[in-house]
Amino acid sequence: MTQTALYQPSAEWQANAHVKGMAAYQSLVDEADRDYEGYWARLAREFISWKTPFTQVLDSSEAPFFKWFADGRLNASYNCLDRHIEAGKGDKTALIFEADDGAVARVSYSELLTRVAQLANALKARGVKKGDRVVIYMSMSVEGVAAMQACARIGATHSVVFGGFSAQSLRDRIQDAGAVMVITADEQQRGGKALPLKAIVDEALEGGSCPTLKDVIVYKRTGGKINWVEGRDLWLHDVTQGQASTCEPEWVEAEHPLFLLYTSGSTGKPKGVQHSTGGYLLHAALTTKWTFDLQDSDVFWCTADIGWVTGHSYITYGPLALGGTEIVFEGVPTYPDAGRFWQMIEKHKVTVFYTAPTAIRSLIKAAEGSEAVHPARYDLSSLRLLGSVGEPINPAAWEWYHKHVGGSRCPIVDTFWQTETGGHMITPLPGATPLVPGSCTLPFPGITTAIVDELGNDVPNGQGGILVVKKPWPSMIRTIWNDPERFKSSYYPAELKGYYLAGDGAIRDADTGYFTITGRIDDVLNVSGHRMGTMEIESALVSCTELVAEAAVVGRPDDTTGEAICAFVVLKRARPHGDEAKAIAKQLRDWVAKEIGPIAKPKDIRFGDNLPKTRSGKIMRRLLRNVAKGESVTQDTSTLENPAILEQLGQAY
Ligand code: WTA
Repeated sequence: MTQTALYQPSAEWQANAHVKGMAAYQSLVDEADRDYEGYWARLAREFISWKTPFTQVLDSSEAPFFKWFADGRLNASYNCLDRHIEAGKGDKTALIFEADDGAVARVSYSELLTRVAQLANALKARGVKKGDRVVIYMSMSVEGVAAMQACARIGATHSVVFGGFSAQSLRDRIQDAGAVMVITADEQQRGGKALPLKAIVDEALEGGSCPTLKDVIVYKRTGGKINWVEGRDLWLHDVTQGQASTCEPEWVEAEHPLFLLYTSGSTGKPKGVQHSTGGYLLHAALTTKWTFDLQDSDVFWCTADIGWVTGHSYITYGPLALGGTEIVFEGVPTYPDAGRFWQMIEKHKVTVFYTAPTAIRSLIKAAEGSEAVHPARYDLSSLRLLGSVGEPINPAAWEWYHKHVGGSRCPIVDTFWQTETGGHMITPLPGATPLVPGSCTLPFPGITTAIVDELGNDVPNGQGGILVVKKPWPSMIRTIWNDPERFKSSYYPAELKGYYLAGDGAIRDADTGYFTITGRIDDVLNVSGHRMGTMEIESALVSCTELVAEAAVVGRPDDTTGEAICAFVVLKRARPHGDEAKAIAKQLRDWVAKEIGPIAKPKDIRFGDNLPKTRSGKIMRRLLRNVAKGESVTQDTSTLENPAILEQLGQAY
């Protein structure tokens, strides 16, 4: 390691971690190189309790629809709950739930299993069967985790929809998944406010728009006033009342779809990423153990929402599959003030803390503005490891996190992965990998990430290119629900030699071979770690047919949120100015919030008489990106039909 290897793991880390030092890392990499299937089979036997052991490992006969451990049978909920209780850990705390108002509830493995079994029995009593899809639209809660586990227990495929999505987005997902049930709450409590959930479900189901749906199960969180549809709506406490506290797990084949999770791609329509049970659970557990070095005594806290993949792999499945203790937090990092995370770390003696760069950057700002919420004011000595996920972490934020949160003693694991990959792909292992701020370092052992050109040829280190994964891996996406062709064309384009296309650009350091992610190469934005398709936002804008003639959406760099959404809009009426323009911009922002959700609201909206187009009518987004950044366009604009438009779009109103 030359100039860039800045932080070596301490001797203590190297001695005590599950993966001890670079030699241990390298020997795992070599093992996978020598016998790829043997390596994954060994780990699948170690990490998963199989009802019927598998005899097949990787089946590539229908590539790229790969199968792993296909003749094995298991149950994810059994692996996350029962087996720890059978091993005598029933009284161990599984979840430490902290509510928005600071109230704390601890749930042991035995208690969690009872809740999951009762809910699973209730779902069965309502006719939910193996393979049925259940949409979960809940805030962060024990009930949310239990609902996912209850689906897994009976072999129903869950699809969690983030509580910030609108009725329209929720409806699209219920329809696409053909869901038979929605599990929701009356309201969610966040940042001192009660926000609607059930009312949004009501709106999504209006007019019989979701014919497959039979029941709506409602968890009473706040007791706020809600509408009730007799014959469709049921209280969670009523349906679980009197249900048996045991429920025989449904032993499913390893390839059985554990969940669908909708995510943005480069078209207007989100895609239902389908994950398996066996391969997915293996990688969720394995990465929790090696990347987070999870030990029996740890108090683990992943701050993600269960509506995103991070909440699936590192709240609902990974830590529980290992019998760990973890925090589930209902609230937001800034309520009652921006010291909330630090205060909770101190209070619960959190040892491993996993959050997003956006959160870190906004807490840096807050701490720099007010001593009272600076991490220095709190006792964070329980921490031993920090993690980052969702977007590139800039070196300055990394250094601050390392110094002020980690007391310069905690390694930081910058974990690169995606909804489609199920778990970490490129990440340091804390007892092994020397750290370089801003780099996610090296592939997880057994994962064959590489950087190639447009034809799939390897590019030398030091030269940027397209990030691919050369070999299939157990927790990979299996297909896009209802759209296998889109799965093939999005992830296995013909020209890439059968490699998985991640959708990100990356570069490897010329000396160390370390990976740095340079950002998406498709039309996907990353705003506060949330994936948003520019096409999705464009189609939401143009669906406002009363006002909008045309719209183009691009991203621009933002100090806090990583990227910000910038929309260029041509109205059906004359270009507005001043207060009128401001009012229309607000109206359009609200429209997007209604169509997709508040997370998709454009930060900037610019109005023009037209958009910059080539003579053949193609919108030149490259130029719009310059305008969005406030840069003067120095590139060649000779192919542009209407160069003067750039200046107009650059003007504030
Ligand atoms: C980005 C989130 C840089 C990347 C787990 C990827 C990252 C997209 C990192 C997936 C990281 C995630 N460094 N970029 N450590 N982690 N990304 O599906 O662009 O919500 O393709 O999964 O986030 O976002 P998704």
